[in-house]
Amino acid sequence: MSDKKYYITTPIYYPSGKWHLGHCYTTVCCDAIARYKRMKGFDVFFLTGTDEHGQKIEKKAEAKGCTPKQFVDELVADIQKLWGLLDISYNKFIRTTDEYHEKAVQKIFNKLYEKGDIYKGKYSGKYCTPCESFWTESQLVNGKCPDCGRDVVDAEEESYFFRLSKYQDKIKELLTTTDFLQPQSRVNEMVNNFLKDGLNDLAVSRTSFKWGVPVTFDNKHIVYVWVDALSNYITALGYADENPELFNKFWPADLHMVGKEIVRFHTIIWPALLMALDVPLPKKVYGHGWLLFGGDKMSKSKGNVVDPYILSARYGVDAIRYYLLREIPFGSDGNYTNEEFITRINQDLVNDMGNLAKRTLAMSKQYFDGKVTKPTEFTEIDDTFIANINALDKKVEDWMDKINVTKALECIFEVIGSANKYIDLNKPWELNKNGEKARLNAVIYNLLEAIRVTSTALLPFLTSSPKKIFASLGVCVPDTLDSLVYGQVNAYATTEIEVLFPRIDMKKELAELEKLAEELAKEEEKNHMG
Ligand code: MSP
Repeated sequence: MSDKKYYITTPIYYPSGKWHLGHCYTTVCCDAIARYKRMKGFDVFFLTGTDEHGQKIEKKAEAKGCTPKQFVDELVADIQKLWGLLDISYNKFIRTTDEYHEKAVQKIFNKLYEKGDIYKGKYSGKYCTPCESFWTESQLVNGKCPDCGRDVVDAEEESYFFRLSKYQDKIKELLTTTDFLQPQSRVNEMVNNFLKDGLNDLAVSRTSFKWGVPVTFDNKHIVYVWVDALSNYITALGYADENPELFNKFWPADLHMVGKEIVRFHTIIWPALLMALDVPLPKKVYGHGWLLFGGDKMSKSKGNVVDPYILSARYGVDAIRYYLLREIPFGSDGNYTNEEFITRINQDLVNDMGNLAKRTLAMSKQYFDGKVTKPTEFTEIDDTFIANINALDKKVEDWMDKINVTKALECIFEVIGSANKYIDLNKPWELNKNGEKARLNAVIYNLLEAIRVTSTALLPFLTSSPKKIFASLGVCVPDTLDSLVYGQVNAYATTEIEVLFPRIDMKKELAELEKLAEELAKEEEKNHMG
């Protein structure tokens, strides 16, 4: 077993409605990184899960006439199905309703209380009685409740507080003098919006609803949902258990991948809690951008969700994974449109990747009955082409070390593009016509090697099409990235390949998708009214 370890986490998702393509984004990114690290020889622990407590969920369950647990169970089954569909290779799925997690959260809360970092006080703010929610002045919309738009009143509630203020200097130092938070642009957001005026102590218990982890020594109170949720990253490893083997092995986390709106919780509250617990800090938090839809964050409440099931049924899982990883510049926001989705597939997967494999394997079959051997003579064009192939490993590694999945994929597709150009430059059909068999063999071999190397490099990102390519190359699917070097195969015995990605007729498809979206919206409306 490798002594290089890598612990990566997704946020844990709120099971409060339909899962959409925006949720898939964080998880697919983490999956690509986890798979990449495994293939680089790391012992990887990849954690995901669900964040199941809180007033919103309690209310939704009530409206549906079921218990909160029944309500979340159904959605958790759905998300697990979705991760299965998208080939997410997580090692553990944590639910905040798991008993071991709830017990560990109680121990964490007690430890902080005993240490004096949690104390009892009064929480005052604007209260919306129908919603039973406290809001701060800045959260109000035109002075009214941001959820229901009704009047709010000044109110006070007894609460336990965490001494966040005690840690403000250390947090500021962490964010401004280390690369704990990436990309760098998010550091300025944190400092200017939250740290500039100092940190207030944080209300970490609630009494206005029941669906949460009870405070053991004062069971009128339940633990604030973010303390409950953030703790998942250590409780999943058995922190506070009698035998915290995984915790000892994998903590501190190498990477918490989170969407930009929850960077604050992960880079201010979470490190402060860990400091208070005397637990080492995670090595890095990466705040990625959003997948937008018509300029808005894709979200259940806005009803602008794109259904991953529909997309995968029509275009396959690799198309979704590719789109998410390639289209949205890593760290920034990206706008989803059906047109761009289809364009990406047609250009990159159909034209570049699919075509290269199809053309080359067809030529290998036609000219050599699939038997192609390693050449001994090379032209200048070959040397440049081979140098490109051999440079790929390092380029991808550099981008992956910077956590830039988009750029890593771009480099792989550059080599695929150069292979297509290599065909046009060398015109194998002319070599065949002129009877230049040795040169023709060299050209086809070089192409097969480009296909093998790029398909290997693609394995962390796309989980099905590279495997089909390996089957046609007659080469085993590699478990590591050690073979990202030209010339590893002495003799090929290839077979032809099916069409990997069928070309999509843009006009027809857009009309179909439009129709499906309308049907889906109608169904949603019906369910809502029912
Ligand atoms: N439960 C909290 C996280 C607790 S972690 C200790 C939460 N859940 S969430 O379901 O609302 O969001 C989970 C993740 O999905 C976040 O990283 C969020 O950014 C991501 N996304 C949800 N919609 C998204 C898009 N439209 N685009 C990209 N990611 C988005 O926050």
